[in-house]
Amino acid sequence: MTTICVPDAAAAAALGELAGVDVVIWDGTGAAPVGLDRVEFLVATYSSAATVSAETLAGMVRLQVIQVLSAGVEAWVDRVPAGVVLCNGRGVHGASTAELAVAGISSLLRELPRFHADQVDHVWSPGLTDGLDGKRVLIVGAGDIGQRVAAAVTAFGAAVTFVARRPRADVHAIAELPELLPRHDIVVIAVPHTPQTHRLVDAAFLAAMPDGAMLVNIARGQLVDTDALVAELVTGRLQAFLDVTDPEPLPGDHPLWAAPNVLITPHVGGGTHRWEQRAYRLVREQIVRFDKGEPLENVVLDGY
Ligand SMILES: NC(=O)c1ccc[n+]([C@@H]2O[C@H](COP(=O)([O-])OP(=O)(O)OC[C@H]3O[C@@H](n4cnc5c(N)ncnc54)[C@H](OP(=O)(O)O)[C@@H]3O)[C@@H](O)[C@H]2O)c1
Repeated sequence: MTTICVPDAAAAAALGELAGVDVVIWDGTGAAPVGLDRVEFLVATYSSAATVSAETLAGMVRLQVIQVLSAGVEAWVDRVPAGVVLCNGRGVHGASTAELAVAGISSLLRELPRFHADQVDHVWSPGLTDGLDGKRVLIVGAGDIGQRVAAAVTAFGAAVTFVARRPRADVHAIAELPELLPRHDIVVIAVPHTPQTHRLVDAAFLAAMPDGAMLVNIARGQLVDTDALVAELVTGRLQAFLDVTDPEPLPGDHPLWAAPNVLITPHVGGGTHRWEQRAYRLVREQIVRFDKGEPLENVVLDGY
């Protein structure tokens, strides 16, 4: 009998019937429930990394897998006990996050905020706008989100250049950014936040972007030096679509709110109404693999 732990009853229901699987319900807060010491497969929320203590994890003597539902695992990566495998939610949020990135890009190019302001004022004010046709889009990160953004923007006539960790055919090395940035109109950030990518988008990165260029960050706020970005936005030289910011939540008096040419959404990239269905489809498949002794998908840390 495999014992798993899921955060709540809704998650257990979303998993459906799993023969031979015992389910413990615990969201990582409050007292440890009966049976936690039997759990082999823990489905962890992003926020539970902050509430599950090291002592509790150490007491989970049969734990073999921590399955996180987000693509980013930075909250968990330093907390995984030796011998435990950490898996992420790659694929769960990719399509919805890429969809929001493209929506943000199109909103700014096609001036939807201005048209909406006109609508509120009952003003009919037509005029030509910018668009994706002919735009040169640099996508930093050639993974799930990056590939999906590329597919969408090329459908509207943009040309895509990729940069990623491992250079390969059609994917440039991160060291080539200084030459690539001046030649692109839109830069999409779609890499994980790691020590190597922290503040990747600093003042020098932004200065290398041409006048009028757009920064899109749908990955993590800490990838961008917010003060440097605000400085570029207030001069009107750059524009930005940000689903993530540093800090989060963005305080009410933060200068980013009032900066011109910026569209902000509150870290909702992955969050459509169907996200839990997508997440628990992945979790169910992972549990079946684990139960059969088959290799798991989305392994980001093998623990050994
Ligand atoms: N806004 C939201 O709600 C939301 C939702 C989902 C995800 N996210 C964020 O988006 C990130 C990307 O998600 P994903 O699903 O596209 O991830 P993914 O499929 O794992 O792809 C990550 C990409 O980043 C590249 N990369 C990793 N480390 C790098 C480095 N040091 N320098 C340059 N490139 C590097 C990888 O390069 P290689 O191809 O060479 O390995 C890969 O192309 C996640 O880590 C998460 O933080 C945000």
